[in-house]
Amino acid sequence: MRLDYLTIFPDYLAPLTLSLPGKAVSGGLIEVHVHDLRRWTHDRHRTVDDTPYGGGAGMVMKPEPFGEAFDELAIDGATIVVPTPSGRPLTQALARELATRERLVFCCGRYEGIDQRVLDHAAERGELIEVSLGDYVLNGGEVAALAVTEAVVRLLPGFMGNAESLTEESHEAGLLEYPSYTKPAVWRDREVPPVLLSGDHGAIARWRRQQSLDRTAARRPDLLHGAQAAGEWVIASAV
Ligand code: ADE
Repeated sequence: MRLDYLTIFPDYLAPLTLSLPGKAVSGGLIEVHVHDLRRWTHDRHRTVDDTPYGGGAGMVMKPEPFGEAFDELAIDGATIVVPTPSGRPLTQALARELATRERLVFCCGRYEGIDQRVLDHAAERGELIEVSLGDYVLNGGEVAALAVTEAVVRLLPGFMGNAESLTEESHEAGLLEYPSYTKPAVWRDREVPPVLLSGDHGAIARWRRQQSLDRTAARRPDLLHGAQAAGEWVIASAV
């Protein structure tokens, strides 16, 4: 998979060379290209933004630098990912969808966003996906681009040694993950739940499932709605 990032803060994306994405780069699974959007400006101040037509607060990112970057990077056919609070919420399902693509081009906006024509143009040259990290406002798209990258890259075939750790974790099963424990069996007077020391794999699996259901019901009841798990939780909790 090839990943391109258009940003006015290339240093913000330095973590891409560390940890999970870094491992995928050194393993040859992904190719990462971070581009300073100001490279495609031509004035003395290397201007990337301007005041909004129609008035209002803040600045809007100008279309020309993005347009020239798209041309030089030949984005045609790619999936263009634009982080914005008005985008599709980032979910595990969306991460799985993005993990099937050959090339992602992230366009990181700052200020009050990017001129709408950039997005309309991008949608004609490739697949445009606007993505939101959640219902809150960040200063720009860089942190969201990092989050999307990490969620996607770890799903690439050949990335994780242990396929089970992918399927068992929070959200892969549509539920939150059960709590985990390791040695020692007693720590500061707190004991590991005895069932986990029982060696009874059936009982352990049932306990973990119940923990997942209880946690999901308590913290994220929205995930149970419409899910098969809702009925299971109601029944399991009644006994
Ligand atoms: N840019 C600013 N806020 C954002 C958010 N919540 N998600 C994605 N990109 C953003």
